[in-house]
Amino acid sequence: MKGCGRRSIYKKARLYPQIYAFVFILTHCLSYVLLTVRLKNVDLPAIGENDVLIKLLAAPINPSDINMIQGTYAILPDLPSIGGNEGVGTVIETGKKVKSLKVGDWVIPRDAGLGTWRTEAVFAEEDVISVPNDIPLLSAATLGVNPCTAFRMLVDFEDLMPGDSIIQNAANSGVGQAVIQIAASRGINTINVVRDRPEFGQLCERLKAIGATHVIKEEALRRPEIKEVFKSCPKPKLALNGVGGKSATELLRHLQTGGSMVTYGGMSRQPVTVPVSALIFKDVKVRGFWVTQWKRDHASDGSLFGVMLDELCSLIRQGKLTAPACTQVALQDFHRALDASMQPFISSKQVLLL
Ligand SMILES: NC(=O)c1ccc[n+]([C@@H]2O[C@H](COP(=O)([O-])OP(=O)(O)OC[C@H]3O[C@@H](n4cnc5c(N)ncnc54)[C@H](OP(=O)(O)O)[C@@H]3O)[C@@H](O)[C@H]2O)c1
Repeated sequence: MKGCGRRSIYKKARLYPQIYAFVFILTHCLSYVLLTVRLKNVDLPAIGENDVLIKLLAAPINPSDINMIQGTYAILPDLPSIGGNEGVGTVIETGKKVKSLKVGDWVIPRDAGLGTWRTEAVFAEEDVISVPNDIPLLSAATLGVNPCTAFRMLVDFEDLMPGDSIIQNAANSGVGQAVIQIAASRGINTINVVRDRPEFGQLCERLKAIGATHVIKEEALRRPEIKEVFKSCPKPKLALNGVGGKSATELLRHLQTGGSMVTYGGMSRQPVTVPVSALIFKDVKVRGFWVTQWKRDHASDGSLFGVMLDELCSLIRQGKLTAPACTQVALQDFHRALDASMQPFISSKQVLLL
């Protein structure tokens, strides 16, 4: 992916067999994601002395992958390009000078834009980081983006103590489910806002089973019943906004004085409006977070990323952090998975088995 500083997928070496890859080929176009992506045979380049040959095992379809295909993401590769920013693979061969990885290790990308929707890949050693291979496959495949985003947002913006509260919208998203679990492991209350749906009760139970303190519908944020929530937990110090629009404004109304709202996603495609009163009378802080930037900012002191992954994997091993609800989809059914990933109220992450 030249646009991301990666080697071209069409590098000509033919020392290795062809692999399957989901290549998006047409001009970036908001409406025609399914027409844009093809399953193609592409050649693998030769393995350089600092490279590793990876057998990709599983890769999710995240909103950022769709946005990249649509051409609305902050990182846009030159086309044609291989889709997928996240996933897990196993090392099957290493170049002569590779030191940090060995055959059998599991690895995930260090950065976005690597192109994980493919069966095999030759990556530079420095482009991937190892993760333990004793955690569930789906946890590993979905570890590098959403749990890391949740972790950083809970740690980097407010000094949260056991008993404190946070509020978040899109609470059933991959990020939201990780926020619930990481917060619960630290004794932090979560007030979780989701859109209304016929199966609200079921979803509510599911989120409570992973540690949600309260689960409420968007509408409830504007109703007197919200007062009931604050009888059992304090007003939140932190609001996490993955939606924007009215939903974000409502989160702000419930923040503690001096609290922070961190915007990390804009699923409604609506701008965030901050009431003047929230700024003047409550002095709220309105911030943003992008995990890709965090990873790039900390690439040179590499260990911080590793420390965070260790902590997350420890939670996974203790059963305190599970993968989001997932639908596993075989390679050849990728169109079904792409389609499902763009539908509302699915509440299940589509994961390609490679
Ligand atoms: N800034 C970062 O570093 C970072 C990192 C990871 C993710 N993200 C962003 O975070 C967001 C969630 O990602 P994810 O992987 O967790 O998503 P996901 O698991 O695919 O879930 C999507 C979520 O978005 C909600 N949603 C979809 N359309 C909506 C709309 N029009 N209005 C309100 N809610 C809507 C869905 O709710 P329903 O069930 O009601 O449809 C669901 O909760 C995305 O915008 C993604 O790009 C940002």
